[in-house]
Order: sequence, then structure tokens, then C-alpha cells
Amino acid sequence: MKIAISGKGGVGKTTLAGVMARTLSDQNETVLAIDADPDSNLASAVGVPLEKLNGITPLAEMTKFIEERTETRKGGYGSIFKLNPKVDDIPEKFSIDHEGVKLLILGSVPQGGGGCFCPENVLLKNLLSHLFIQRNETVIVDMEAGLEHLGRGSTGYVDAFIVVVEPGMRSIQTARQIRKLASDLGIKRVFVVGNKVQSKEDEGVIHENLKDFPILGLMRYNSKILEADRKGVSPYDIDEQVKKEVSAILENMKKAFAA
Ligand SMILES: Nc1ncnc2c1ncn2[C@@H]1O[C@H](COP(=O)(O)OP(=O)(O)OP(=O)(O)O)[C@@H](O)[C@H]1O
Ligand SMILES: [Mg+2]
Repeated sequence: MKIAISGKGGVGKTTLAGVMARTLSDQNETVLAIDADPDSNLASAVGVPLEKLNGITPLAEMTKFIEERTETRKGGYGSIFKLNPKVDDIPEKFSIDHEGVKLLILGSVPQGGGGCFCPENVLLKNLLSHLFIQRNETVIVDMEAGLEHLGRGSTGYVDAFIVVVEPGMRSIQTARQIRKLASDLGIKRVFVVGNKVQSKEDEGVIHENLKDFPILGLMRYNSKILEADRKGVSPYDIDEQVKKEVSAILENMKKAFAA
């Protein structure tokens, strides 16, 4: 499964991505977690200790490596570079291993239409399509909020989007826009996960307004998740409830894929 997690800002994308990655790894699946948000923070949701992150440069900032791989040559009319750089060794070379999760920090995401035509964009695009099409492990991509980053060059080859929503019309509206984009990309599976649910009324808001979406499950509003964030650890390591909720969400997703 190759899954991109998206949704409005602050709804809990990174939290879900981190806990999902840890859960799958504990189920003995090989998991590659990709941080595609320039404001990278998936590492802490996966539980990678800060010391382990020191000295890690996001891939998009590895200028020298990118130039080497794309064989960039600067000339009088701009630069010339290769459009199909070698990418298949990148996960092994640059990912951080934590509790069986391989984490790759991109630091940027190649954008559709408006994105720059430059070596790092070309490298990232090639890398993502390689990861989505040619590799066997489960890939979970934590996306930046907003819609601009969902496009052919970034998420064009995923099997599904999971849109995280909270009980409120704004994030629900975003879910609809994401489904529209997904359909333009030819991606048929767009799942919803509700987060920060505090009451029956909250549940109702999500179910009533997203009747036409497959809802994989809900995560309760949970002070342990906030505590994990304060401490810079994964909710997976300090809270049983979110583990149960995310396991159920994964079960439902597997069922949906099998159907
Ligand atoms: N179920 C929950 N209960 C309480 N707090 C939560 C819950 N889920 C997430 N949070 C908190 O909400 C904040 C945003 O969560 P998170 O970073 O996962 O969202 P995001 O969608 O990835 O945000 P961004 O759009 O900035 O990338 C964090 O402080 C997180 O700890
Ligand atoms: Mg995030």
C-alpha cells in the first residue's frame, strides 16, 4: 500500500502518519515513512529521538548530491541536467531507522504545474514515482497542509489518500476538494479519518457531512497526544487508546483494499 495523508492544516496528519507507521512496523510490515512537509516533524511522531536527528539534512537540501545525481552542468543559458537520475538507493542511503520504521525526510515536495523545473524537483519526482511504483514496502507519506502539493509529480501514483478531518466544516470542505483532485489524478480511493472527536455530536458532524466517503475510523481528542507532542515523543509510546484506534483504522483500510 502506498498512502498519502493529507488534509487541512493542524488536523492531525503527522500524528496519524507517525502512529500508523509504528503500528505497521509492529505488525512486521516493512514501512517507509516519508516526510513531505518542508516544515518537517514526522520524525517526532514516529518517535525518533532528537539526538538521532542531529546532522540529518532533508534530501531537497543536499545540493551537492542532487547535482551529482542529475549531472547538473551550469551553462550560459541556465543549467543542463539529467531527467532520469538514479534514485533506487536513496531510501537505504538516507533514511533513519527507528523501531523498524524507515523514515525519509524530503524537505520539499515536487509540485505539479507551477513547480520549478530544476534538478531537485526532478530528483524528488523520480524518487517518489520509484517508491510508489517499484518498491514492495508500505509507504506512508505525510503531506504538507493544503492542496497545491497534491499533484502528478508528488502523489500521482499513490493507491489511496487518507484525508484527516476534524469535526468542523472547514476541514470537511478540504476533504471534498482533495477527492476532486484525486479523481483528476485517477486515484479512486479517498478515505477519511476523523480526529479530535470529543462527543457524539462531533461524530455526527463527520458522519453526516461525509456520507459519501468511506470513513476508516475516528481518533478521540486525547490529552496524551498533546503530552507526547510536548515531550517530543511518539503518541505510540505513551498511549494505548490511540494505538487501538489506529489499529482499527488500519484494519478497515486493509478490508477496503481487499474488497
Ligand atoms: N486526537 C488529538 N487530540 C488532541 N490533540 C491532537 C490530536 N491529534 C493531534 N493533536 C495535536 O494537534 C496538533 C496538530 O497535530 P499534527 O501536527 O499531527 O497535525 P498536522 O495536520 O500534521 O499539522 P500541519 O498541517 O501543521 O502539518 C499537535 O499539537 C497534536 O499534538
Ligand atoms: Mg504535519
